[in-house]
Amino acid sequence: MHTGLFVKKNITQLQHEAEGSNNQLKRHLTATNLVMLGVGAVIGAGIFVLTGTAAAIHAGPAISIAFILSAFGCLLAGLCYAEFASMIPISGSAYTYGYATMGEFVAWIIGWDLILEYLFGASAVAVGWSGYVVSFLADFGIHLPSTLCDSPFKYGPDGWYTTGAIINFPAVFIIAITTTLLVIGIKESAKFNNIIVLIKVIVILLFIGFGISYINTENWQPFIPENTGTWGEFGWSGILAGAAVVFFAYVGFDAVSTTSQEAINPKRDMPKGILGTLLICTILYIAVGLVLTGIVNYKELNVAAPIAVAIDNAGQGLFWLRPVIKVGAIAGLSSVVLVLLLGQSRIFYTMAKDGLLWENLSKTHPRYKTPHITTIIIGILAGIMSGLFPIELLGHMVSIGTLLAFIIVCVGIIILRKREPDAPRAFKTPWVPFVPILGAICCLALMASLPIDAWIRLIGWMAIGMVIYFLYGRRHSHARKMMNKNK
Ligand code: ALA
Repeated sequence: MHTGLFVKKNITQLQHEAEGSNNQLKRHLTATNLVMLGVGAVIGAGIFVLTGTAAAIHAGPAISIAFILSAFGCLLAGLCYAEFASMIPISGSAYTYGYATMGEFVAWIIGWDLILEYLFGASAVAVGWSGYVVSFLADFGIHLPSTLCDSPFKYGPDGWYTTGAIINFPAVFIIAITTTLLVIGIKESAKFNNIIVLIKVIVILLFIGFGISYINTENWQPFIPENTGTWGEFGWSGILAGAAVVFFAYVGFDAVSTTSQEAINPKRDMPKGILGTLLICTILYIAVGLVLTGIVNYKELNVAAPIAVAIDNAGQGLFWLRPVIKVGAIAGLSSVVLVLLLGQSRIFYTMAKDGLLWENLSKTHPRYKTPHITTIIIGILAGIMSGLFPIELLGHMVSIGTLLAFIIVCVGIIILRKREPDAPRAFKTPWVPFVPILGAICCLALMASLPIDAWIRLIGWMAIGMVIYFLYGRRHSHARKMMNKNK
């Protein structure tokens, strides 16, 4: 029985769609814009918030090795993303690649899974943003009431509990601002993003440059602390668990590929955008990890603002850097929220255009030419989640969802090479199938290092996705309607 679950989009048709009049989105992103978008999406709460916890609880000074391991998995998946992005240069990222290679059902799974990455990611980073804003204002004696800047619901060893807070207001605020920017237009958003990316990279370079002379190499002894006897607490298993936690810090580099339809020369520039972003971020993260654990003993880093703690530890000499770092972090986290929301709205837009979600969602704004309806819906959902839930919970969902999408993309490249061996592609993943297989194994190992709770929520999330697909998407899918017509 052919149920149409595996109906595929034709690659030539996709390429045609990207070139032709169907493309209602404007093309004005250059290679530099794409790297800026990538770095804008990537450097955020991972490095500014989660690195400290990962060093203190899992990896110790070897957090830099954890960053390298995580980057290795991302690089392998990134090489696969780059081939797809250079070959199928239209909106939708891994969702569209899945549609072309593995069929509609897998595409739906990826699309639904990417919501975890982008929507939950934007919400998690908005919560991190809120933490830095609250701490920055407190430095000036302005204390926001905790009922208005904390998550009302949290999850601990004994399950869910309420904190007494009403809403995390600053988190909702930053989502509202970025959503408005995205509705007004991607060009304006790209300009705003470029300025902010520069600020956050400069702030990180300042920390590395000035922090280096305050390193006490005794803090690096032992570089890999001995395992406590529990899996994931130091030693090599700790490095692996640390790598799974800091994987969050790399999430977003694939957001570059969601804007293919808005790039001037996607075939040439997509690979540059993706791989360039990864390279810049990995170098910065390794350096920050070394300086951070060199200035402060890793045991003291289990805090909300580890970089600020390191600066305090350096003494009076670096005190001037403290507000600068906080402002940089606040600006940096804003751009992450912006790019993740941008990616999510483009994926929704593509899914709606394909008939898998309500089609009216795919209308673009007559004046701004942006998919404003999907952008606003995503903004409202992200606002609700960031207002109610804590960063760790949202962060784990992001990591597990993204890793799953990466695995599917790696497998997709192997299938693509079999199905379309001769189709033109500006970039080819090297050593296929070795690179994609190793990529999938690395991502699976990182997934396995995440807590069981995250797995259970992932399964629950996927179950909801299946219900929506079978009740709505499958019946309205354009690709299926075409297939039935041609029978
Ligand atoms: N990679 C992004 C961050 O670290 C999600 O905030």
